This record gives sequence, C-alpha cells and structure tokens, in this order.
Amino acid sequence: MTKIFNSIVDLEIELKEVRGNCEIIAFVPTMGALHQGHLQLVKEAQKIADKVVMSIFVNPTQFNDKNDLDKYPKTLDADIKLVQTVGLDYLYVPDETEIYPPEKIVELELNLLHYDQVMEGAFRPGHFKGVCQVVKRLLDLVDPHILVMGQKDFQQYSIIQFMIDQLLLPIRLHVVNTKRDSRGLALSSRNMRLSESGRIKAATIFRTMKTIKSKIKLEGISFLESYGFNRLKRAGFEPEYVSIVDGSDLKNITSIHGTKYAVICVAAWLEKVRLIDNMVLFDER
Ligand code: PAF
Repeated sequence: MTKIFNSIVDLEIELKEVRGNCEIIAFVPTMGALHQGHLQLVKEAQKIADKVVMSIFVNPTQFNDKNDLDKYPKTLDADIKLVQTVGLDYLYVPDETEIYPPEKIVELELNLLHYDQVMEGAFRPGHFKGVCQVVKRLLDLVDPHILVMGQKDFQQYSIIQFMIDQLLLPIRLHVVNTKRDSRGLALSSRNMRLSESGRIKAATIFRTMKTIKSKIKLEGISFLESYGFNRLKRAGFEPEYVSIVDGSDLKNITSIHGTKYAVICVAAWLEKVRLIDNMVLFDER
C-alpha cells in the first residue's frame, strides 16, 4: 500500500528509518496526470533502489504560459490508484507553501549557460530556471540517493545533470527510456488532450525521427532538419523546431564529423497540444 504524505516532516520520519537501515532511496519527481510512462519510471527505480518516493507537484514557476498551467490536468485520485498498481512506497504531494514558503527565498542562483537558450529554452523562456528551482528544492527536501527521470524530456534531464555537476550534488541521475504507444507516440500527460485521430497522427513525429535516424550518415544535417520540419508541416502539425544536436552539450551540429553522440529533438503543436520528443541518432562515446 502506497503511503501518502503532504508534509515533508512526516515523510522524513518514515525515511529516517529507511536511511537507518542503509537502504537506497530513489526519487521520481512528477507533476501528476500519471500514465504508463511514469509507472515505467517507478518500475525502473524499483530495480535499482530499496525504496521509491514519487512527488506530485504542479510547479507554477516552470510555466511561462499561465494558460498552460491552468489547463494542466489534475487527476490526483486516479494517480493514487495508478501508483498503487506498481507498489510505489511513498507518494509526496506537497502544497505550494511547502515548496515555496512565502517568507523564505528558494531562488536558485545557477547560470545555465546556453543550455536553456536553445530548443525548449528558446520557445519557453524561464522554463528551465523553474524546473531547476523546483527539482533542487525537492532534492533538498526528499534527499534521495538516486534521481529518476525520463529520456522523453531529453533537454530537461541534460540540464538537471548539468545542475547536479555544477552544484556538486551527491546524487546519481538515472535516465529511463521513453515509453511509447504501439504506434510510437511518446506517452505524455499532454497527450490526454489529443483526440483519437490526433493521437494516431501524432505518431508521425516518431516515424519522422526514425527516417532521419536511418539517413543520418547519408545526408547533411540541415537537409535532414528541414526534411523533418516540412514533413510534420505537411502532416498538419505546427512544428516549432526539429534540431539535431550534440547530446553531450546540446549544441547544434552542422556535420556528423567530430560528433560522437547525436540526438534529434522535436517540438510541434497538434490540436493546440504541444508535443515534444527526441531520439538518439547515434552514440559512439
Ligand atoms: O518533467 C516534469 O514532470 C517536471 O518538469 C518536473 C521534473 C517534475 C519538475 O516539475
């Protein structure tokens, strides 16, 4: 039975015993509206840790669009039922004053360099500052050994790894492969807002990335990026970017030569829903 906590004081009493037994704690931060992708994170966390904590907190500081925050699905009852099916140990559901106490400063001083200027950062100014702020705050509160995040948010976990390195946090980041539906659409809380035909069409992103992967050693980078952008446009998407980057530093590449690790990242709107996805094109590190 998953134990549910609204206060870190109560969760910490529980975790004190876990720490006393020298058990490994893994932490899965989420914003709720859970789906099989989140459950996959828990299942992977269970393989590498003794106890797993998940948080559900819809973080206002990472939404640059207030409308998006208002529309974010809130499904706590269903979420609780779902985490019980995989035997999650602890669910932490703080309110906003616990994460951002009005009388305290929980601003994070961290220069994210170019990391938050490209791709998602360019289209969602301030988004990653908010993500780093909340993840750092949650890590301070929960104090896990391992942080578990999904490959689907490639830029997000790359930036969190950068933060961990910069702040010398004693935490290991464990990344879990993207869970996809049978057509290849990456599972995401936002997909819940797509129609059935939208969900079918949305898998075009996956197919486009697969085609690009198959041609990465044959065609030029900018040709492949334009090909991807135009294919999505023709299929009825409004693409924001199709970028091929060096996965180790998120910098755009112009040629595969000199790069050992290339990743394609995509953001596109469909039926007023913003979808993001990515695929490793090659990793020869
Ligand atoms: O990926 C998410 O759901 C959020 O960005 C996270 C990491 C839980 C921070 O609010």
